Amino acid sequence: MKILKNMKYFHKPYHKPVLLAEVLENIISDMNGIYIDPTFGSGGHSLGILNKISNKGKLIAFDQDQFAIIKNKINDKRIIFFNANFRNITKILKDYNKKVIKNVSGIIADLGVSSYQIDTPHRGFSRRFNNMLDMRMDLSKTKSALNIIKNYSFENLNHIFYKYGEFKNYQSISRKILLNRKFINTTFDLVKLFNHNIKFLSRLFQALRIEVNDEINSLKQLLQQSVNILKQGGVLAIISYHSLEDKLVKNFFKSGNMNGIIRYNKKGKNLSPFRNKFTKRIFPKKDEIYQNNRAKSAILRITRKI
Ligand SMILES: C[S@@+](CC[C@H](N)C(=O)[O-])C[C@H]1O[C@@H](n2cnc3c(N)ncnc32)[C@H](O)[C@@H]1O
Repeated sequence: MKILKNMKYFHKPYHKPVLLAEVLENIISDMNGIYIDPTFGSGGHSLGILNKISNKGKLIAFDQDQFAIIKNKINDKRIIFFNANFRNITKILKDYNKKVIKNVSGIIADLGVSSYQIDTPHRGFSRRFNNMLDMRMDLSKTKSALNIIKNYSFENLNHIFYKYGEFKNYQSISRKILLNRKFINTTFDLVKLFNHNIKFLSRLFQALRIEVNDEINSLKQLLQQSVNILKQGGVLAIISYHSLEDKLVKNFFKSGNMNGIIRYNKKGKNLSPFRNKFTKRIFPKKDEIYQNNRAKSAILRITRKI
């Protein structure tokens, strides 16, 4: 993990921030507060927050992709960057601050892959460009999509395509990969092997990407830790792009656990750490989807800590 300070902002955000107005309207409750952007990307949401908070406010940004931070630096004394996975947020903030941070006013996580990552051919995220299968957000990690294709067992491939791709025919997909793995190296090898429609290929690529970056477990860890980092009344906002993530977020906001099972104390009080009354779900408007196709599958969920 690297702390990157005093950076110069030299490049306009490449990635159009999704649901920016809705996020800002809901998360900024204290102009002097501390905010966290665990998915900095091109810095669109971060920039929006910096434009709204006062000189006393602070913003803490994370991205596990070193290039996201290097390419989109914001030169502003109020922001501090961590080139790290948000799954370690508590420890990283504790190491930096020398004590546990518990007074955060708002967190906005915009999950998944950025336009920069998907549009950079050599990162191997996209079925639109022919490149080595890679899909790592954190380039210091060794597990790439190619490692999975070459080395995973039938059972482990089944798990990915069933759980993360939600394919009914997951076994036949795994079998095809096992039989042809010697010949698969690039994104186009995979595309040609399956020769399917765009929807199928998108899900296939998404399933591999989720496994490469361990996205579901990272999200669970972020959700769990956010409860302790937020102050009373602090806002947690998550933008998801597929049902797996959104279901986890929905369950967690409702109950404070991943199963969504509400627990009550002896007096019958809901033990969820969030105020259900404030919990809401927001979709992008038609105009936004028209201007930014990436927004079409976005779901923003917002809640507030009790
Ligand atoms: C959808 S983009 C965020 C875009 C950003 N909100 C903006 O407006 O430019 C997601 C970013 O989060 C990063 N990311 C995804 N999972 C992460 C994790 N577990 N830890 C740290 N960064 C992560 C990705 O590398 C990517 O740059």
